[in-house]
Parts: sequence; structure tokens; C-alpha cells
Amino acid sequence: MRVWYTAVLCVAFFAAGPVWSQERFSIFVGSNPESIDRMVAIAGLRDGDVVTDLGSGDGRIVISAVKSHPGVSGWGVDIDEKLVRESSAEAGKEGLSGRVRFFHQNAFDADLSQANVIFMWLWPELMYMLRTKILAEARPGTRVVTNMWDLGSWKPDATDDRPMPVHMWVVPAQVRGSWNWELTVGGVKRHYAAVLEQQFQQIEGVVRAGDRRGVFREMKLRGEDLSFALDITLDGSGMFRHTFNVKVRGDQMLGTVRIVPLKRDDEAGEAVTLPFQATRNPKSAYFAPTGLVKR
Ligand SMILES: C[S@@+](CC[C@H](N)C(=O)[O-])C[C@H]1O[C@@H](n2cnc3c(N)ncnc32)[C@H](O)[C@@H]1O
Repeated sequence: MRVWYTAVLCVAFFAAGPVWSQERFSIFVGSNPESIDRMVAIAGLRDGDVVTDLGSGDGRIVISAVKSHPGVSGWGVDIDEKLVRESSAEAGKEGLSGRVRFFHQNAFDADLSQANVIFMWLWPELMYMLRTKILAEARPGTRVVTNMWDLGSWKPDATDDRPMPVHMWVVPAQVRGSWNWELTVGGVKRHYAAVLEQQFQQIEGVVRAGDRRGVFREMKLRGEDLSFALDITLDGSGMFRHTFNVKVRGDQMLGTVRIVPLKRDDEAGEAVTLPFQATRNPKSAYFAPTGLVKR
């Protein structure tokens, strides 16, 4: 089935003629109804969602998504003006003109801040190029759903493989960089300086508290929701387990941290949960000299 579909698209692609000059890599082949049902299902639509389809063809995905959920609205863009007219006419026939709009527009010019669910079924290279735009412009937490092809090294958060793959990604917040915060633990104000690395939704990080350094564990990022853990010795007070649950909003993290003293036999002491706020800062104390060894 997948081979058949790929063959149809290849024929359509090469039959399309010299279209290179207008940044158009896929001609119109409509997703089949069964794939659309699974794309809509994997998107997990909720009241208030605004869906878009980048390369909306005859409008079938946006129309199906909006029909499936009364609390959802949507819009589509296509580079083919005739298809845009047909899509608008179809939305009118379905009585959806108030909730659905179609625009004659290059997908690269679409305002992705105006949707929180993005559907795509375009030639793989075109989707790969749009990946860069999505990661730069879509709001964290936006779901991206594709038919058949994936987005390269950005691994999907969910896949429905049968009979043909549909994939779903959650756009991650940008958390790379140096983050600083203070916490009062064991009656002493502590300064923490963390450095986070990011590859799509995969996060790793290290931190310094006083002159001790540690590695974060169990880092999980989904949209703007970030959780991570840290066991570190704090000077004069022993080892503490930290469990952070935060929302990343621009250059701020806001949330809570649960702190438990760890005794030598691994027994835990009494836990406290504190409000947590961190700020991204271009300069990090993580790299500052400790001055412990002088040459
Ligand atoms: C394979 S069809 C998919 C149609 C629809 N999304 C679906 O799954 O039924 C790809 C569509 O993308 C449109 N398209 C190709 N390049 C585009 C671009 N750069 N910007 C907007 N639309 C584009 C084509 O005109 C075509 O309608």
C-alpha cells in the first residue's frame, strides 16, 4: 500500500513539469479518508484548537478535522488558487464557512502562531524545510501531524503505523542555554547555575551549586512542560534530591521544586516543595573559576 502511494506521488511529481521556480514540490493528491481519520485522531483535538493544513489541497483535512469536533476551527493554505476556491466552496456547502478559511498562500508565508495543530502531507523535502519554520515560529505545545512521511531526525512523539504511518510531534519550547536560580535549602540561600543542551525534545544538562557540579536526570520536555531531577551535595548540609516541574515561558521557567534530604543509607528525610523560578542568562556562573586549586 505504501509503495503504491509513493509510486502515485512520484508519477504526479514528475508529471508536474518545471515548477521549481515557484517553490512547489508536491502537486495535489488527496489524503485518503482512512488516513485523515487517523491524522485527526492522533492530533487529539480539544475545544478551542485551531488547525491548519500547509498545502491544504481541496481542503479535506481541515474540513474533516472541524467537522469531527464542534469546538475546533481551522484554516488552510495552498499554492494552487483553483484548489483554494474549491476548498472554500466545499466549506460553504458543509455550512462551515464561519469556522473554516482557505488562503492562496505559500506555506512558507503562513503565520504559524495562528494555529496550534499543523497538518502536512507534502513531498518529504518540502516538509523537512517547513520543519525549520515550525520549530522557529510555532508556539510550544503545537501538535504537528503528517501523513506517511516523517521529519527526519526530529523523532515523532506518537506514530500510528497501520495500515500506513501517520505521525505526531509536539513542538518543544526552546530551553537551550544558561539558566540561573536561587533556592534556600537547609536554611542557606544557594545559587544554582545550569547549562542545558537541546536536540528537538531531547534535553540534557549540568548544574553547579556553590562549588559542586551535578548532572540532571530524567529530563522530559513536552511543549512548554519541563521536568527533571537532580541529586547534589550542598555545602554544609549534605545531599539533596531535587525534582523540578516547570513551564518554560521565553527566558523564564516557573513552577515548583520538591527537595528531599538524602541520608547516607539512602533513607530520605522530610520533603519540602518550594516555588521555583529560573532566568535564562547569557553569562553562566557554571564556568566561573572555583579558585580551589591555585597554580
Ligand atoms: C500531496 S497534496 C496534499 C493535500 C492535502 N493536504 C491532503 O493531504 O489531502 C499537496 C498540496 O500542497 C500544495 N503545495 C505544494 N507546495 C506548496 C507550497 N509551497 N505552499 C502551499 N501549498 C503547496 C499543492 O498544491 C497540493 O495541493
